[in-house]
Amino acid sequence: MTKTLKVGIIGAGMAGQAHAFGYRNASMALSSEIKVELYAIADPNLALAQKVADRYGFANAIADIDELINSDVDVISVALPNFLHAEVLPKVIASGKHLFAEKPIGRNTKESSELLKLANESKAITGVGFSFRRLPGLAALAQAAREGIFGDIHSARAWYLADYAADPKGALSWRYSLEQAGPGALLDIGSHAIDALQFVVGNVSEVTSANLVTVIKERPKAAAGAIGHGASTSNETGPVTNDDIAHLSTKHVNGAVSQVTMSRIAHGMPNTLGVEVFGTKGSGLFDSMTGGEFHIFESGLGDAKFNGTKKIITGPNHPYFNDVAAMPGAGVGTGYAEAFVAEIQEFLVAVNTNTPMSTGFHEAHQMMKVVGASLDSSANSKPVKL
Ligand SMILES: NC(=O)c1ccc[n+]([C@@H]2O[C@H](COP(=O)([O-])OP(=O)(O)OC[C@H]3O[C@@H](n4cnc5c(N)ncnc54)[C@H](O)[C@@H]3O)[C@@H](O)[C@H]2O)c1
Repeated sequence: MTKTLKVGIIGAGMAGQAHAFGYRNASMALSSEIKVELYAIADPNLALAQKVADRYGFANAIADIDELINSDVDVISVALPNFLHAEVLPKVIASGKHLFAEKPIGRNTKESSELLKLANESKAITGVGFSFRRLPGLAALAQAAREGIFGDIHSARAWYLADYAADPKGALSWRYSLEQAGPGALLDIGSHAIDALQFVVGNVSEVTSANLVTVIKERPKAAAGAIGHGASTSNETGPVTNDDIAHLSTKHVNGAVSQVTMSRIAHGMPNTLGVEVFGTKGSGLFDSMTGGEFHIFESGLGDAKFNGTKKIITGPNHPYFNDVAAMPGAGVGTGYAEAFVAEIQEFLVAVNTNTPMSTGFHEAHQMMKVVGASLDSSANSKPVKL
């Protein structure tokens, strides 16, 4: 029997637009049992909501977020600034609608643990948008790790380097406020790097040390209605109250040690996430800069003269590829846009089959615990167990 899922998105900014793209294209690999109705985009900035609704084919634009929550939609995506998560996510959960929340959930472990409790008590599906996990190359690296290709993983490194904040004239949006965003690079982009690291290596058990640095301490205030990284500015300046750079040393439950590097002021690195792992039998690497491939080395295979690191081009044999690639062959590549399609498909299938999503509030809280331990470790110069 075909079920129509009526969809609403709260937040029409950078991430809300990516969700709209995801829902619009999700049908391409959903079974005929699921139909998607693009109902509405809700954002107090009604002009923006209308623009996004028109672009992605949603029927309505709504200024009042509560109006969407109280409507008869089946599923709601929330892509609002972090300071609104603790206010809006409980309302969506209480409405009984299925919820797809952007990462992180909240600004700190207090908010994420309260939200996890509410999600656990809800009968609805509660997913979280750790979109990088849906890049076929990263998903394949995690699969190789689970299948033991690298043996016992003993060490790893992960990074998220971006340059969106490298220009000191860039607007002081909510992202630069500890109160509104929580930590800076550590949470905004670090949430992806830490989640990807845990996805491949396993959960972190201790933050041994953390260095958080704010390099650009003042920025021009954002003009009203500013969204995304390209917000326009006013003449007044204000203080940056969270980190531009975060460097962590971590230990994992399985005994592995790792390092995680996050920067939002990395000139020349517009937007790149990577994970590299080393184990008793081999090593592996994924770097989103070359996101259509991943690398694996297996020790002791064949003639040593010709045994080196393999570059594997992603294709139909790798997770998510067939569901989102425009052409069915290896080498055509998929990018970050397709990752949003894949995550929305996974969410809608979870809703339709009433099964948990692989990235739920539990995974989001686990990631936040690493962030919380990093803040503690940095403030008190000591190792902190999770
Ligand atoms: N998965 C990803 O790759 C990814 C990428 C970007 C952002 N995100 C996450 O998505 C969420 C939203 O980030 P974004 O980049 O889309 O933000 P953004 O600033 O681009 O957009 C935020 C939207 O919220 C709306 N809004 C509603 N009430 C508001 C209020 N009181 N103050 C300010 N804005 C208000 C704004 O009008 C705007 O449309 C964040 O939690 C962020 O971490 C995830």
